[in-house]
Formats: sequence, structure tokens, C-alpha cells
Amino acid sequence: MIDLDSARLRPPPHTPSLVSTQLTISVASPNSAPTLVEPILCSVPDWFGIEDSTLAYIAASGQKPTYIASRDGHPVGFVTLTHHNPVAAEIHCMAVHRDHHGTGVGTALLRHVETLLEKGGVRFLQVKTQGPSKPSPEYARTLHFYVSRGFTPLEEVRGLWPGIPCLILVKAITA
Ligand SMILES: CC(C)(COP(=O)(O)OP(=O)(O)OC[C@H]1O[C@@H](n2cnc3c(N)ncnc32)[C@H](O)[C@@H]1OP(=O)(O)O)[C@@H](O)C(=O)NCCC(=O)NCCS
Repeated sequence: MIDLDSARLRPPPHTPSLVSTQLTISVASPNSAPTLVEPILCSVPDWFGIEDSTLAYIAASGQKPTYIASRDGHPVGFVTLTHHNPVAAEIHCMAVHRDHHGTGVGTALLRHVETLLEKGGVRFLQVKTQGPSKPSPEYARTLHFYVSRGFTPLEEVRGLWPGIPCLILVKAITA
């Protein structure tokens, strides 16, 4: 477990007072991950409103490496990874509890897994999100998050997700 009480984790001035600065990130056990992830996904129905896919993300958290961010001991965010090959990984799913958006949790999770992946020899991290050809204010914020954290949009593909254009982004995580 790594104490991440640094830099970005201090709440900005507009942050609600319920947010403290004690954030830790740890890997979840396969048994505990789905229980920890479910309430976080349920707090963001504007992004995860399709029941079948949300259930699949919950199940995947128990089968793939999943890192949980906790604030004062309470789970507030997670990221689940897929390892495609020794040098290429993917953010399979990522979310921060609605009450903690914009307080540095997502940035800290990204930084944490990027450091681990880089140490393990991974060079490229990809993520898929809803593409801009289906405009949405929610996914516009998500895209801003990934791009501002160093991801580059590669291409938008159709057919992967029924009725939803899929934007593939990638980030080189080694120099
Ligand atoms: C996208 C997400 C993981 C980012 O985590 P976060 O903890 O809110 O983000 P941080 O506080 O670390 O960073 C804030 C940055 O993200 C942006 N952002 C993206 N979505 C945001 C949201 N819903 N609320 C607040 N800020 C958001 C902000 O504009 C800010 O950018 P800036 O620093 O350049 O001004 C999180 O908002 C979330 O869970 N969103 C809903 C689910 C989702 O989109 N998951 C990814 C699916 S592919």
C-alpha cells in the first residue's frame, strides 16, 4: 500500500469539505474487488447506465488486476487493467465515486498504475471510451481527463460496442 498524500491529492479550494487528503491505493483481492467496485460504478449512472456491461465490469474486477483508491479507509475509485502482451496494457475500466470527482483520485490512480506498469516493462497503455461522434457532456469530461493526462486519440471505431462509437486512446508510459 502506498501513501499518496502529495501534490494533486490536496483538494482544490472549491472542493467540498467532506474531502480529506488521506488517499491510499492498493491492489484488491479477487474476492473483495467486485464488492468494492460495485458502489463506485453505481454512483456514476450517466457513464455506466447499461446494466449488463456494468455487471460485466464488476465481474471483471475480480478476474483482472484491480487497484482501489481509498480516502480515509473508504473506497472512492478504482482502475481495472488488462495485460495484452508484455509491453501493452489497457485500462479495462476506471471510475471515481461521484462525490469525489475532480479531487485528484483519478489522476492518482493513473499515476500509480503507470508507475507499476513502467517498472514491469510495459510501454503502452490504451483506453477505450465513447467517441466524440456521439456527443455527450459526460464523456467530453472523460475525454478531457484522459487527454490532459497524456493520452492521444488514435481512432474511433464502430461495431465494438452496440450503437456506441468507441474512441481508442494510447499513452506511451516510458521515455
Ligand atoms: C474520469 C474520472 C475517472 C476522472 O477522475 P477524477 O478523480 O474525477 O479526476 P481528477 O480529479 O484526478 O482530475 C480532474 C480532471 O479531470 C477532469 N474531469 C473529467 N471528468 C470529470 C468529472 N466527472 N468531474 C470532475 N472533473 C472531471 C477535470 O476537468 C479535471 O481536468 P483538469 O485538471 O485538466 O482541469 C472520473 O471523473 C470518473 O469516474 N468519471 C465517470 C466515469 C468515467 O468517465 N470513467 C472512465 C470511462 S472510460
